[in-house]
Amino acid sequence: MTYENLLLTEEDGILIVTINRPQALNALNNQTMGELQQFFGEDAPNRADVKGIILTGAGDKAFVAGADIKEFMGLDAETGAMMSKRGQDVFFLIERFPKPVIAAVNGFALGGGCELAMACHIRVASEKAKFGQPEVNLGIIPGYGGTQRLIQHIGKGKALELIMTGDMMGASEAYQRGLVNHVVQEGEELAKAREIIEKIATKGPIAIAKVIETVNAYFDKQQDGFAREVQEFGNTVGTEDAKEGASAFVEKRKASFKGE
Ligand code: COA
Repeated sequence: MTYENLLLTEEDGILIVTINRPQALNALNNQTMGELQQFFGEDAPNRADVKGIILTGAGDKAFVAGADIKEFMGLDAETGAMMSKRGQDVFFLIERFPKPVIAAVNGFALGGGCELAMACHIRVASEKAKFGQPEVNLGIIPGYGGTQRLIQHIGKGKALELIMTGDMMGASEAYQRGLVNHVVQEGEELAKAREIIEKIATKGPIAIAKVIETVNAYFDKQQDGFAREVQEFGNTVGTEDAKEGASAFVEKRKASFKGE
């Protein structure tokens, strides 16, 4: 598949996906959302060789400055709800992806950009990154999961304040509040994200996929997370990887996992 607005590069089994509309601060237009859907739903799941994915934005100003406001004109209640549902579904594909997905936030992460970063498993931010949900400035609310995931990351009170004021939050405050995992010097985001993926890639891949599923289960009202943990603990203990992990420990050598 070739993409118009996503730039794909690969380094040592790590896919770097760059949202590439710098003239619009990488705003997520309909085409870009379709490409993210294609990538996370169809293309990336077929890449068994890939260790993980890094999402970032083109240019030196923005990660993603939101959904494309120019496409909002002409939306009504029905088409607006469809747009929101589709955006949520695309971001669920990211949140549920069985390998680590890291947002390398190189600038503005606003509206849909903040929501995109929050759907990733881990966030690494440059010192100049700025986060916010400014939708109320447009008379609307976040529609790609922001009202739910911001609470998960920073708690209800601060989430409500940020969403109701439309204020931006700098990288160091985002770090203090638990929204980002690491703050690095400008230009170091990709290197830090790669380092994290390389470390995760040395672990058992089935275990990593099950960690993602089980942690996500906490936020899924249809599931009992503790029951899911019991089930997936059993599933991982029964794998060849688990035998290899225990043998390697006893034999005082590095484990070599096959994902079996
Ligand atoms: N949708 C569409 N276009 C956008 C955009 C968005 N979310 N965010 C920025 N752009 C475009 C601008 O229209 C401008 O295009 P133009 O040169 O053709 O006019 C270009 O990107 C550069 O943006 P500009 O506003 O000139 O940059 P700035 O440095 O002055 O301000 C921001 C940066 C991020 C503060 C400002 O662009 C902004 O507030 N963007 C909207 C953020 C938002 O509300 N997001 C939530 C949407 S639901």
